[in-house]
Amino acid sequence: IKLLSVASEIYPLIKTGGLADVVGALPGALAGHGVAVRTLVPGYPSVIARLGKAKAVRRYDDLFGVPATILSAQVEGLDLLVLDAPDFFAREGGPYGDHGGNDWADNWRRFAALSRAGADVAEGALKGWRPDIVHVHDWQAAMTAAYMRFGPAASVPKLVTIHNLAFQGRFSAGIFGGLGLPSEAWGVDGVEYYGGIGYLKAGLVSADAITTVSPTYAQEIRSSVHGMGLDGLINGRVDRLHGILNGVDIDIWNPAADALIPKAYGARTLGERAVNRRALERRFGLDQDDAPIFTIVSRLTWQKGMDLLVEALDHLVGAGAKLAVLGSGDHPLEGALLGAADRHRGRIGVQIGYDEPLSHLLQAGGDAILIPSRFEPCGLTQLYGLRYGCVPVVARVGGLADTVIDANEAAVAAGAATGVVFTPSDLLALHGAINRVVDLYRDKLAWQAMQRAGMRADFSWTHSAARYAALYRSLIAEAA
Ligand code: ADP
Ligand code: GLC
Repeated sequence: IKLLSVASEIYPLIKTGGLADVVGALPGALAGHGVAVRTLVPGYPSVIARLGKAKAVRRYDDLFGVPATILSAQVEGLDLLVLDAPDFFAREGGPYGDHGGNDWADNWRRFAALSRAGADVAEGALKGWRPDIVHVHDWQAAMTAAYMRFGPAASVPKLVTIHNLAFQGRFSAGIFGGLGLPSEAWGVDGVEYYGGIGYLKAGLVSADAITTVSPTYAQEIRSSVHGMGLDGLINGRVDRLHGILNGVDIDIWNPAADALIPKAYGARTLGERAVNRRALERRFGLDQDDAPIFTIVSRLTWQKGMDLLVEALDHLVGAGAKLAVLGSGDHPLEGALLGAADRHRGRIGVQIGYDEPLSHLLQAGGDAILIPSRFEPCGLTQLYGLRYGCVPVVARVGGLADTVIDANEAAVAAGAATGVVFTPSDLLALHGAINRVVDLYRDKLAWQAMQRAGMRADFSWTHSAARYAALYRSLIAEAA
């Protein structure tokens, strides 16, 4: 099967979150299932810088008003198509906005361009290569499905994956004329969304199948609580909806062979973790004592429950625990965390920013990774925590509910427990979870049993890649 994947991020070239990890890992995971993936991504500076020998495979004089080229290149085992459109993508700042966190005003054009290019590839724009199926990720790529549906590649199967329903790509109705879609694309069955335009919505109505990144989230988004206004549409297409759990790239996240941590270790050599734990304490200015270390590796946002965390900090320190935070996001939350680190020297350490190597040290040296999300489509940091023996402490939502087994008495007795799960996502329940961890941590043997159970659990891509491959095959068969 020849598959075109379209996305706005791909690890290790451009990443703001889990989307990049998934888009970067899927091609390798699918190769063993007879699926050859080419991934189309925007030509951000960090992407262009890594291309090396690239070949121009399609030129545009005018793609939404700017000149553009599709480049083909192999980078880190990835077969990439890169939309090189400097006017759109060669900018200082992040992929979606400037350093100050303001979205680029022309995002509608930037990601319509990416999607148009994706549809062009589906329609045969590249000499000698045409995909059998197209798989697009999140709102930034979702319009690919809409362009295809209203063009000559309408019969090529298209799959849209929702990584986060909170980000929908909503714009004013006024851009419709600029999208280059036929007039019948306007309307409730097209791109129109509450009087404006919704890119994700347009993708969801145009797709032959919709997936999201965990079974529980696939259920949750059918309710008005988590549906973010799209629950009606999603319920109408529920026969086309699948929840497929994300996996872990076990070559990148492997404590037994991780060059980014001071000391490698495995489930049978947990004692070696102490070296990483010391390194973590030093790096975050934490007291070197036996108190449990909670860690956070996260975007600092409301979704992630980081405001709850801020409120729980005094309780956490009062309970005798320590905390190391790596994250960036909402400025008031960043400020509140830095303030708490000042007030609780030696007990709370905070690093604001994005630091891939440091995120490995937190998993390898921390005792418990805390994820108090209000909603979580899948979540990857709890999976990395499981693999690294950094016990996940999670809210019972989305993919967190699907991947962590709570240390209740029955699960502990059966040797099955892998973490602490709490609900609802509020302050009282978070306090309770912190207390439970502090208690559990006192029993060193029971704690180690929990670490080992997590490390043994298989969250590689094996199962999920097989599910994607089966879905691709059924969509291709249906279209034939
Ligand atoms: P989301 O995509 O919603 O942010 P996920 O848990 O799916 O959440 O993925 C987050 C990814 O980003 C993980 O790979 C995590 O390690 C990484 N990450 C988040 N914040 C940081 C940070 N400040 N520094 C380094 N890596 C981070
Ligand atoms: C989104 C979600 C996260 C998920 C990731 C990858 O960013 O917030 O839960 O793990 O996408 O699918």
